[in-house]
Amino acid sequence: MVTELMKDVYWVGIVDWGLRKFHGHELSTHRGSTYNSYLIRDEKTVLVDTVWSPFKKEWLENIKAVIDPAKIDIIVANHAEPDHSGGLPLILQYAPNAELVVSKRGMESIEGHYHRPWKFRAVKTGDRIPIGKNELVFIEATMLHWPDSMFAYLTGKNLLMPNDAFGQHYATAFRFNDEVDQEELYEEALKYYANILTPFSPLVSKKIDEVVGLGVPVDMIAPSHGVIWRRDPLQIVTKYKQWAAQTPERTAVILYDTMWEATRRMAEAVGDGLAAEGVPYKIFHMAVTDRNDVITEIFKAKAVILGSCTVNQGVLPTISPILEDLRGLRFQNKIGAAFGSYGWSGESVKIIEEHLQRCKIPVVCPGVRAKWQPKPADLEACAGLGREVARAVKS
Ligand code: FEO
Repeated sequence: MVTELMKDVYWVGIVDWGLRKFHGHELSTHRGSTYNSYLIRDEKTVLVDTVWSPFKKEWLENIKAVIDPAKIDIIVANHAEPDHSGGLPLILQYAPNAELVVSKRGMESIEGHYHRPWKFRAVKTGDRIPIGKNELVFIEATMLHWPDSMFAYLTGKNLLMPNDAFGQHYATAFRFNDEVDQEELYEEALKYYANILTPFSPLVSKKIDEVVGLGVPVDMIAPSHGVIWRRDPLQIVTKYKQWAAQTPERTAVILYDTMWEATRRMAEAVGDGLAAEGVPYKIFHMAVTDRNDVITEIFKAKAVILGSCTVNQGVLPTISPILEDLRGLRFQNKIGAAFGSYGWSGESVKIIEEHLQRCKIPVVCPGVRAKWQPKPADLEACAGLGREVARAVKS
């Protein structure tokens, strides 16, 4: 169903209630998502972003409910990922002479995805395209979150369309932030930030300063996923500034996997040590826990403590993905530690510690290893590790 956001500006996107995995199977989306696409009527007709191709026919019907798609003069593609560019081949059949406005890097990425001789127009920060009473203004947003990412701003309506930035994977009945559950909204906004934008935090901060520095009025922020920020739209900008600073809470997460419960018992003893020092903690069994939810918890916490028993002279395969995330997401201001049981060779703790160091997460105390099932002294050593990490968290 089409929603008129403000006079002559329409949301013509798709709500994908059924989506549970995104980016292939890389990202969990427990509350579905939306692919937001915006239609602007002025002397020229402008379409900003499209939708993922499985939904292109419904999306086309939404456009047709507002205007004959052949009348579209300008299509802005802020970013090439197929969840936003997937409708381009279809809409450009209807409007073959439309100008396709992209960033310089977008020209490369969209060409690379579709291999079509479309009428590209590359824009850079500050470029303006008059569309009648109002103008489109463009801001390159390199690495928020791709090199091609771009924001579009509509003068006269004070509407910022920043594509993935400020988005959420959140399917809802209504389109605006003031019409949804605030707790759910912020859970999804934070999960989105933690899983997608964390490594680019320094750039997020700089880009926000740059946009705020332009001094342009913003009445609405319309990202490409989730709800549109209408009530107090800058609240999400303020949140992004906080998140980009990566100032953790004084808490810890303990992540582990286990074969015969020895490493689980060690994890719980580590937790006892943290609690004894008054530091809140959460324990996650990585074999049965959603990895992306855990990433959000890591994002919030100061300490990340990893445990694995040794198997095949390494860590359990369920631990490897989170190690890879710690590398790729480049978390800042964390501390770490490791523990694990073993039967024969016992390399897992050293492997985790070396990995943490490579991720620039300082290991604040020596890891604890327990041979076979932990004895009381091993569990006390784990509690001691918890207490030591807790003291580092509090300092
Ligand atoms: Fe980077 Fe929503 O795609």
